[in-house]
Amino acid sequence: MAATTTTTSFKAALLSTPSISSSTKSTVLKPRFTSSSSSRYSPIPKSLIAHHVSTKTNAIVAKMGTVPSPVSETTSLDFHTSVFQKEKISLAGHEEYIVRGGQHLFPLLDDAFEGIKQIGVIGWGSQGPAQAQNLRDSLAEAKSDVVVKIGLRKGSRSFAEARAAGFTEENGTLGDIWETVAGSDLVLLLISDSAQADNYEKVFSHMKPNSILGLSHGFLLGHLQSLGLDFPKNISVIAVCPKGMGPSVRRLYVQGKEINGAGINASFAVHQDVDGRATDVALGWSVALGSPFTFATTLEQEYKSDIFGERGILLGAVHGVVECLFRRYVEDGMSEELAYKNTVECITGIVSKTISTKGMLAVYNSLSEEGKKRFEAAYSASYYPCMEILYECYEDVASGSEICSVVLAGRRFYVCL
Ligand SMILES: NC(=O)c1ccc[n+]([C@@H]2O[C@H](COP(=O)([O-])OP(=O)(O)OC[C@H]3O[C@@H](n4cnc5c(N)ncnc54)[C@H](OP(=O)(O)O)[C@@H]3O)[C@@H](O)[C@H]2O)c1
Repeated sequence: MAATTTTTSFKAALLSTPSISSSTKSTVLKPRFTSSSSSRYSPIPKSLIAHHVSTKTNAIVAKMGTVPSPVSETTSLDFHTSVFQKEKISLAGHEEYIVRGGQHLFPLLDDAFEGIKQIGVIGWGSQGPAQAQNLRDSLAEAKSDVVVKIGLRKGSRSFAEARAAGFTEENGTLGDIWETVAGSDLVLLLISDSAQADNYEKVFSHMKPNSILGLSHGFLLGHLQSLGLDFPKNISVIAVCPKGMGPSVRRLYVQGKEINGAGINASFAVHQDVDGRATDVALGWSVALGSPFTFATTLEQEYKSDIFGERGILLGAVHGVVECLFRRYVEDGMSEELAYKNTVECITGIVSKTISTKGMLAVYNSLSEEGKKRFEAAYSASYYPCMEILYECYEDVASGSEICSVVLAGRRFYVCL
């Protein structure tokens, strides 16, 4: 019952999302706040709205920083690199260290990849093709002897695609998954997360001692933690997590050959370092992928923030906003076709562009006095219900329940070859 009330108020609040005046004909919409959930809370003072909706700051994230948070304290994310130059930057009052990428750094890759003769890229899904090709091109540019080899499961349909991208059995750059894991000094495990959960023991047992396991997500750590396990102590474990889908990682890398600065940013993490090489290998991997900026995180923070963001915002919030806008337009008498167009425009058009480039506050400031009043009412009504839902999402991720459900779902749809 409570969940229904909260959901209702969440949707009701979203239904009243005001459009900024120039965006669409259906500009002025009546607010509808009928939630009992939202009445439990007093309205958010106007002065706080300006604070919460500040530029580049998601309102919920801002609020989560001001209430007792379930997010554990950030550990120091400083790092030492003997190959690349790190820079200190200040973001929203927090100091962070980053490494700026660029093609001019490719000559440093051999130093970063010291001791690595073969990089095994395991999997050919979204990230596999992009990362393998970017690494191969960057290493070729650097005239490096490091080999990038794709490892795929027996009978995989992806062999043909990998061959089409120039990885072949004949030149030793394409082969069986387990042979590739066993023969690589750096193993980039880019099979699906649920497949990682089902195959980690075999992966670990095939890896050479002192070799390095590279992940692009912290999911496997979350899965191991939920079982009370950890990685074997005789390998290093690092992550480079591009903040975009594989095809964009490749497309923007190619664009970066012509347009300085093009590429997808990535976070990196060093979870275990058996011989002191891990940080530079991770940074080299990220630079070779074409990341314009590489910033530090931990594997644990990575999976918690990524899965939470994906469930709460990318999948949950966007879906909820779309459903609510569409239904509201139709309830107000709009044809389904026009309601669809207006909904799409709200998600992809001027409002989202304004939020993305100038922040939520710019949307608020662009409204008429009447529009501002409605915004404040909508904001106050939706704020706490949204926060409750997002906390719930976060707890599901932090407790391991969400990871468990992904593993089970993967098994339900398991394709046997
Ligand atoms: N998708 C993204 O844009 C993105 C972004 C950032 C990070 N990541 C992370 O990158 C990693 C890879 O994700 P992805 O989306 O690129 O891959 P994916 O599409 O989830 O997985 C595809 C690959 O997994 C292989 N695979 C599936 N089940 C397998 C099994 N039982 N045994 C062996 N191989 C199996 C597939 O083999 P076949 O080729 O034989 O079918 C395929 O090569 C994940 O950790 C993910 O969280 C992904």
